[in-house]
Amino acid sequence: MSKLVERFGPDERFPHMTMAICFILLAVSGMGLFSKDLSFLTAVMGGPFIAKWLHLVAGSVFACCNLYFIFRWRSCMKIKEHDIAWLKEGGGLFSRGAHGKLPPSGRFNGGQKVLFRVTMSLGLLLAVTGLFIWFPKILPKALMAWLYPLHALLALGLMTTMLAHIYMAIWFVPGSFRSMWGDGMVEEAWMKYHHRKYYDYKTTE
Ligand code: HEM
Repeated sequence: MSKLVERFGPDERFPHMTMAICFILLAVSGMGLFSKDLSFLTAVMGGPFIAKWLHLVAGSVFACCNLYFIFRWRSCMKIKEHDIAWLKEGGGLFSRGAHGKLPPSGRFNGGQKVLFRVTMSLGLLLAVTGLFIWFPKILPKALMAWLYPLHALLALGLMTTMLAHIYMAIWFVPGSFRSMWGDGMVEEAWMKYHHRKYYDYKTTE
């Protein structure tokens, strides 16, 4: 077995885990509160009253995690020239097996950097629209009527993005699950293959 190297530290794994748990609670309670046809989801949580409070608490924690990651990863998520080249190659998505021939990536590849921007923007927009729904007297009634469907649409966007993220993280890129949900380690060969620039930087610093 090849040597192990750390990909994510506890200061990244635990906030990500918290964010993921909050996301699941938010999605289940949110869908249950949104549609009568899905109200069985709130029943699972102990009724609409508990589901609503859970939604507010999980939403607040989720928004804090979003802000934390924007701050924590602000420098390593900058899009650089090699990321553009990586994105132009479609990240090897349509040529599985040719991954090794892609322009080398830093700590995150172009796709992860795009995903970061999409999830963090949707997360923050959900938090802002959610805050106005929580305190409905701030905005005029006419605007509020638009806010509910907008909040639901943003949530739908985030849930769809998350399905793709979870698929990529668990099945499409073997070895990556452990780095975020396990002990944070990956095999040296994995790091060299997927994040060559970061590997070179780490091994020569
Ligand atoms: C719910 C189950 C989730 C699973 C199983 C999961 C899994 C993972 C894994 C394995 C990684 C590390 C990928 C790597 O090795 O590079 C990762 C990274 C990341 N996760 Fe998640 N995640 C989940 C939820 C979320 C949520 C709710 C968000 C934000 C709304 C999120 C945002 C991110 C971001 C921005 C990264 C760094 C970029 C990337 O790797 O795509 N994740 N996740």
